[in-house]
Amino acid sequence: MNCDCVNRGPPAAGSVGRCRLPAVTLVVAAALILTACDGRGDAGRQGSVIKFSGSALGAEGTLVARQIDRFNGLHPDIQVELQRTPDDATQRHQLYVQWLNARVGNPDILMLDAIWTPEFAAAGWILPLRPFAPAPADFFRATIEANTWAGELYALPWFADVGLLYRRIDLVPTEPRSLSELATAARGAMARPGGPRYGIVWQGARYEGLITTFIEYLGAFGGRILDENGQVAINRPEAVRAVTFMRDQLYGSRIAPLEVLTWHEEEARFAFQNGNAVFMRNWPYAYEPMSDTAESRVAGKYAVSPMPGAPGGRSTAALGGAQLAINAYSESPRAAYRLIAYLTAPEQMIERAQAVGQYPTRPALYDDPRLAAVRSIPLEQAKRAIENATPRPVTPIYTEMSEILQIELHRALVRQAEPQAALDAAAKRIDALIDRTGMRKLTQGTTR
Ligand code: GLC
Repeated sequence: MNCDCVNRGPPAAGSVGRCRLPAVTLVVAAALILTACDGRGDAGRQGSVIKFSGSALGAEGTLVARQIDRFNGLHPDIQVELQRTPDDATQRHQLYVQWLNARVGNPDILMLDAIWTPEFAAAGWILPLRPFAPAPADFFRATIEANTWAGELYALPWFADVGLLYRRIDLVPTEPRSLSELATAARGAMARPGGPRYGIVWQGARYEGLITTFIEYLGAFGGRILDENGQVAINRPEAVRAVTFMRDQLYGSRIAPLEVLTWHEEEARFAFQNGNAVFMRNWPYAYEPMSDTAESRVAGKYAVSPMPGAPGGRSTAALGGAQLAINAYSESPRAAYRLIAYLTAPEQMIERAQAVGQYPTRPALYDDPRLAAVRSIPLEQAKRAIENATPRPVTPIYTEMSEILQIELHRALVRQAEPQAALDAAAKRIDALIDRTGMRKLTQGTTR
């Protein structure tokens, strides 16, 4: 059955002819197609084989494979296969866009980053979840808002991420209360005999991780990418101060190493775990593996706190995380939803927190004693951090905005352009993008 003809958002050029049916069968066929594609169509279908895709590195890969095996055992009518995709958010995005542009129904389940849902929903690439009767009130509000587009929920939040400042407590016993205190403490610890080579490490390669890092400096100085009216705010004085701080106080003065502009989460973690950095910006997942004395030189010697603020702004943590959505071209949407419901159920979320330190998106679980066993940041602190975290702009053109910003941030950090000039260039290109795509109205009121 060709499900491309219904419920898929705007049809691709040339697709209309494929859907033409003889008039006499039209009504009956439409009813059948709707039943098949409204999220219930594969109900009772024997032997659905569906593919789950996502990043599945190391312990995360072992866990997801275990949960899928268990699901397969519990549901003999569905066989789920795991398709590993890149861990780098930007690479995974590119891969999904290629598949979905080609209208490929495999993988059936997509692991979306916190900022992709509006784009995928507006393109008609993922199914609205309403027909499956999810319970959005059980999840953190911000994570549901990030997955809602045009009033419809399109994905279920799987885990929540929040940016944290990791600190070597043997070198810097108290948490820095401002960014300038952070820079001073980093410099002091590096200057000690045998002190770490690097003051602070972060995600600086030209990919989405750089923007999550930047959002925290931006907020620290009181800046935003878009203001509350949807106007581009990225070249305002606060943003210029944020980039200037990163360039002059951290990157340019070698408190952050030159290599940091090629690093992702794991490179930063290895540097910190090997004892080479005083501070690290990273997600909660890094906490647990670094406490393993067999692997880590800093076990027992680190703590986390929020990234500090700066004059004119406030301490800011980027909201990240992943959600699960159904490929709109899947032939087994109902089976796909059953797996999504399973993976986002309380038991699997607790197991995920225990195995890989990724936090549940269900606030009720933070009072569950099983979660208290997780070797990670205290639960109350984690819950507050997630509730107060700063989302990235909720718009279908987010990925393009982010790419523009990534390029200009690199130019500013390596001194190819002054911060003001680089941010002016970014603002001009983002403005043109908003106009070209007709997003002016839609970006209003949904942004940071
Ligand atoms: C983490 C976050 C995600 C973010 C990405 C950037 O995976 O959960 O939201 O975009 O890191 O590298």
